[in-house]
Amino acid sequence: MAFKRRFTLGAYLSGGAVNGDAWRDPSADIDADLVFERYRDYVALLEKGRFDAIFLFDTVGTLPDPATFERDPGIPRWDTFMLLAALAVTSRHIGLIGTANTTYNEPYNLARRVASLDRLSKGRAGWNVVTGTGGGENFGHDAHVAHADRYVRAEEFVDVVTGLWDSVSPDAIHETARRGSGSIHQDYGLSIIPVHISVLQVR
Ligand SMILES: Cc1cc2nc3c(=O)[nH]c(=O)nc-3n(C[C@H](O)[C@H](O)[C@H](O)COP(=O)(O)O)c2cc1C
Repeated sequence: MAFKRRFTLGAYLSGGAVNGDAWRDPSADIDADLVFERYRDYVALLEKGRFDAIFLFDTVGTLPDPATFERDPGIPRWDTFMLLAALAVTSRHIGLIGTANTTYNEPYNLARRVASLDRLSKGRAGWNVVTGTGGGENFGHDAHVAHADRYVRAEEFVDVVTGLWDSVSPDAIHETARRGSGSIHQDYGLSIIPVHISVLQVR
């Protein structure tokens, strides 16, 4: 049987100043985390080169200590899904994968954010699920949430997010309108039954 090999190309756009002192090179785009057109142009070039997807990491951690900061000024960073939403509009076929942690987000908000990106990009959104490298201090905690607790929450978080995504068919509103009777709520059950409620509650 003929077997067609397919090569998948992904670009990891790490943002400025994550590569040692490379940002000091006069030709470096050190304003890429401030000027959207930089990312717009990177993605246009990647699409021309037939890349399949871009991938953005994300962190909500605190600023590094002053000594580290002196060498590594890779802050501020774009809000990942906000940047991807803009790129969804300026690009045509490349996949748009963003990182979002399950520790300092709420599943309802995140489900909506990623689903909106998916709609804007006509099905090109991806979510890299992490529990986070840190950032508790920015969300009312004394420190990063403990490892075991992060993973209990992460499991439930993913169930709730996927449950929300699956809770209604994208065609439901058209189907209900076409039939001319009935209700989208009755026919498609717009709310999900929570799978777990020990940490997260979504109805
Ligand atoms: C390949 C890889 C990529 C990661 N990228 C991110 C990231 O972009 N943002 C983030 O907050 N954490 C990131 N993490 C960290 C995880 O969220 C997690 O905190 C870390 O892996 C420690 O947990 P563990 O002991 O279970 O590995 C990444 C981890 C790995 C292994």
